[in-house]
Amino acid sequence: MEWWKDTIIYQIYPRSFCDSNGDGIGDLPGITSRLDYLRELGVGAIWLCPVYRSPNVDNGYDISDYRSINPEYGTMADMDRLIYEARRRNIRILMDLVINHTSIKHPWFQKSRDRNGPYANYYYWSKGDGDGGLPTNWAGFFNGDCWEFDVERCEYYLHLFAKGQADLNYHDPAVLDEIKKIMRFWLDKGIAGFRFNAVNLLWKDSLENSKKRSALAGQEYYLSNNGTHNILRQFQKVWDEYDAFTVGEAVFVTPAMARDLCAPERKELDLVFSSEHMECDQRSGNKWLKKKFRPKLFFDSIIKWQRELDWNALYLENHDQPRSIPRFGSKTYWKKSGKLLATLLLTLRGTPFIYQGQEIGMTGFDFSRIQQVNDVESRNVDYILKRYRVPKSIRWKIVSRTSRDNARTPFQWTSERHAGFTDGRPWLGVNHNYPKVNLEDQLDDPSSIWNWYRDLCALRKSSDILRRGDFFPLEATEQVFAYRRDLYGQELTIALNFSDSPARTACRGKLVKSNCKRQQFDGKLQPWEAVILDSTEEGGMP
Ligand code: BGC
Repeated sequence: MEWWKDTIIYQIYPRSFCDSNGDGIGDLPGITSRLDYLRELGVGAIWLCPVYRSPNVDNGYDISDYRSINPEYGTMADMDRLIYEARRRNIRILMDLVINHTSIKHPWFQKSRDRNGPYANYYYWSKGDGDGGLPTNWAGFFNGDCWEFDVERCEYYLHLFAKGQADLNYHDPAVLDEIKKIMRFWLDKGIAGFRFNAVNLLWKDSLENSKKRSALAGQEYYLSNNGTHNILRQFQKVWDEYDAFTVGEAVFVTPAMARDLCAPERKELDLVFSSEHMECDQRSGNKWLKKKFRPKLFFDSIIKWQRELDWNALYLENHDQPRSIPRFGSKTYWKKSGKLLATLLLTLRGTPFIYQGQEIGMTGFDFSRIQQVNDVESRNVDYILKRYRVPKSIRWKIVSRTSRDNARTPFQWTSERHAGFTDGRPWLGVNHNYPKVNLEDQLDDPSSIWNWYRDLCALRKSSDILRRGDFFPLEATEQVFAYRRDLYGQELTIALNFSDSPARTACRGKLVKSNCKRQQFDGKLQPWEAVILDSTEEGGMP
């Protein structure tokens, strides 16, 4: 059953969502206490970022026990209760399962240090190049080396991400079996499926030196290769038994690669998160080197993916990306541009994912120094830049614009202390704009970003055209993005003005919704105006 084609999914970063016990860290009972809120918003499923036991080198993406809950988030009983209470409200739970690597604190890794034991090959171990150098010249995703020497085993282990995250070696069939058992464990609890990270890197063909440019070095040995497709097909047999839904984050993925991962006949994943649209404000694919946001590039990328994939995982924010309003919208037109971005997200073809706080227009952090940042990746980048003697102010400019902590500040529930997130001291600084940007105030304000999200979620739910209709691009300029959705001759046209100045569009139709006050639509869009038009009679454009 393809329920996920008719659902809006909400992503929760548990650490920052809602703290129930005053320790400054969000937790599972906190999430359970907000299920009615999520129902009210109109979401049908939650993607829960990792809550497993973990030393938190990368906030849970380094798992040390897949079958237990990190005590800071609660207990397994709390998890069972969350699943139960969510189901009572028709909300499904998707677990974020990290299967490319584990924490080096995981017992498998500890036992893997014994070269002769049964776990010896659970990870990629290598002696080095023989001359005292690293085994390969591959680049790590966290901007550093991807080999670490282990003194106990006297060998290097591979970690494509942080040092504390050792890559699992699927060449050993026992690893596949272990992960299958873990999947069953969670599916038996009644969860609806999984989100996987780095899902197209699972299989490393061989550990050889790369001929590619340094930032991409190594990819030819691990990116979207047959080995990974085989692994996914093995897993799919388990998912199939439970009718589980799966979405995978794929890195450096092209539409062709994405199709290979999620075309139904291939029996791998249901959906793929791609990131090309997130790269349109980056220089040469490096997320730390930002350039001015050019709307047209962004629109063209969206059009490309809408055309090339039958069904997309739609998102503008997540826990790895800076917030969308300061990035793609306008600080001056905060509310209007927040609503416009919501309109984009909720009117494209695919499954929309709303990231916590996006629905109230949260903006990035307002920290002023690196010590306020927790994220391991940001800290690494700062450290490397420092090694290259980049001055502090420039380092901060680079890190603060892109840091993942921009999206990880605590959810702003109220205008009370710590934004109502906790009674204690929040693990990460709350943005000081919470007296102005918070849920409580927005619930009561019919013109709020939150109410716009709720209305659009409801509109999408009631509209077969928005959920299932085809997508046709109409206009994509530096200012305006317009497209049509149609189903069996019924049409809706969406026109969005991504600029601080008025704009014209050739789109016409009966006004269904606008984020500006108006009764009808004459083709003139106000700054950051978003309109949805019923263009069934008009054919979208004259
Ligand atoms: C997660 C990141 C994490 C990375 C490495 C990604 O899928 O979204 O937050 O750092 O995987 O585990």
